[in-house]
Amino acid sequence: MKIILEAVNIKKKIKQELILKGINLKVYKGEFLSIIGASGSGKSTLLYILGLLDKPTGGNIILEGENIDFKNVKKLTVLRNKKFGFVFQFHYLIPEFTAVENVIIPMLKAKTNKKQALQRATNLLKQLGLTEKINKRPFELSGGEQQRVAIARALANKPSIILADEPTGNLDSKNTQNVMEILLNLNNKYKTTIIMVTHELELAKLTDRTIELVDGKITKEIINKPDKYTHVQN
Ligand SMILES: Nc1ncnc2c1ncn2[C@@H]1O[C@H](COP(=O)(O)OP(=O)(O)O)[C@@H](O)[C@H]1O
Ligand SMILES: [Mg+2]
Repeated sequence: MKIILEAVNIKKKIKQELILKGINLKVYKGEFLSIIGASGSGKSTLLYILGLLDKPTGGNIILEGENIDFKNVKKLTVLRNKKFGFVFQFHYLIPEFTAVENVIIPMLKAKTNKKQALQRATNLLKQLGLTEKINKRPFELSGGEQQRVAIARALANKPSIILADEPTGNLDSKNTQNVMEILLNLNNKYKTTIIMVTHELELAKLTDRTIELVDGKITKEIINKPDKYTHVQN
């Protein structure tokens, strides 16, 4: 396994308070990594920095061998849209738009032609069991369905890395299981790298590797699927 994304001594200070205290983390291509930790331990802050949505106070992020220049805002936007798919606890779908339109938007931003975008969006929603719902607006969908649309949207531009911040945090157990199965399947079938923040230990155990954050530091690493790490290259 090759390294796809790396954090080197990442620090983040917010209002004089050190939220991340020197994070060193290698993320391997094709792995499903989970980040656990108490509320306020810095999980979301770390995830946003890894996804180039936020800028660290110190340290480096290396994406596919390239050191990220956080001052180059244009390039950051391009990389973010091209390389990452984001799924949050609350879906953040655009309420005025239908399911299929919500999935199409990131593709149009990436200059995919309209016809192709529509085709891909329809196909993604179909794969996520939402064929009947493509023309519904978010308020007409259940919480689980909304989250599946958000996953389809995250997949729109064929990201190398999916970043999910408590993606099941707002769902009942049946929908939690469903969303988790979708993520596991994506990782298995398409080898998509996934980094998922969760506070549910049961879900973390299903991923390949888990790291724990305590007070802005990584305190523990648990490899749940050792077989997957036999060919790790450093
Ligand atoms: N924009 C912000 N302004 C002030 N404090 C913040 C901000 N973002 C995060 N924090 C603080 O940083 C700490 C870590 O937050 P966060 O990364 O959201 O933790 P987690 O996702 O693990 O619950 C918390 O103490 C939080 O209050
Ligand atoms: Mg959080």
